Amino acid sequence: MKARVTVVLAHITDIHLGHRFAQKFGVDIQRNFITVLEDIKRRGITEVVCTGDIAEDEMASWFFDTIKEYGFLTHIVLGNHDNPVIMELSNEQGIANHYYRIPCDQAVLLFCDTRQAYMDEEQLSWLTEEISSSDLPILLFLHHPVLDYDNSFMDQKYALKNRDAVKSALCATNKEIHLFCGHYHATDERSFANIHQYITPSIFYQIKKYSEKLERDEKPFGYRIIQMERTIQTEVINFF
Ligand SMILES: [Fe+2]
Repeated sequence: MKARVTVVLAHITDIHLGHRFAQKFGVDIQRNFITVLEDIKRRGITEVVCTGDIAEDEMASWFFDTIKEYGFLTHIVLGNHDNPVIMELSNEQGIANHYYRIPCDQAVLLFCDTRQAYMDEEQLSWLTEEISSSDLPILLFLHHPVLDYDNSFMDQKYALKNRDAVKSALCATNKEIHLFCGHYHATDERSFANIHQYITPSIFYQIKKYSEKLERDEKPFGYRIIQMERTIQTEVINFF
């Protein structure tokens, strides 16, 4: 792949095509997804990152066929709902572990695999080495948040199991790291030391921050635009 000059990315996440709750919630997931893709196209954005929970097995090919129709250059990481055998993983991605880096002149673009809700030591040492070996801005994409989202329902029940170890390792690099994730079906931006975390809303449905059990939050679906010039700027696009 050729190196690029500018970095403008559309960050999409948690589409959950074919999910059994679609009917219960009255959500047309395919329509939501097309709405987002049309908006990305209309803005002239050509590169998309999807941070997982893409589809149930029977809908995976529809996802990839649809993305191809739009002609977007697409990078994916896997979520806890994704079956790696079914997903179309590119050559950039390893056979056993689906984490990788793609070439870029302006930034270090790193893609992690947390589909087991865990980042093993091998991946973590690869990650910190990649981060430490460059002075370019660092953009890290993974399914799970690393920073706590105010002890939310998702933090309590479904957090990345070793997020404290990941957080410590990222802090120890002393590099400014922009971390883009989903999984919590919410919108949030926060920083801790050198880590700047952006949770992007789900294209399917949002989850209440606090509740006894998993509950739907009537907030809009959407995606995030990431623009990198001298600094990283992001904007969440919502659809009501
Ligand atoms: Fe999800």
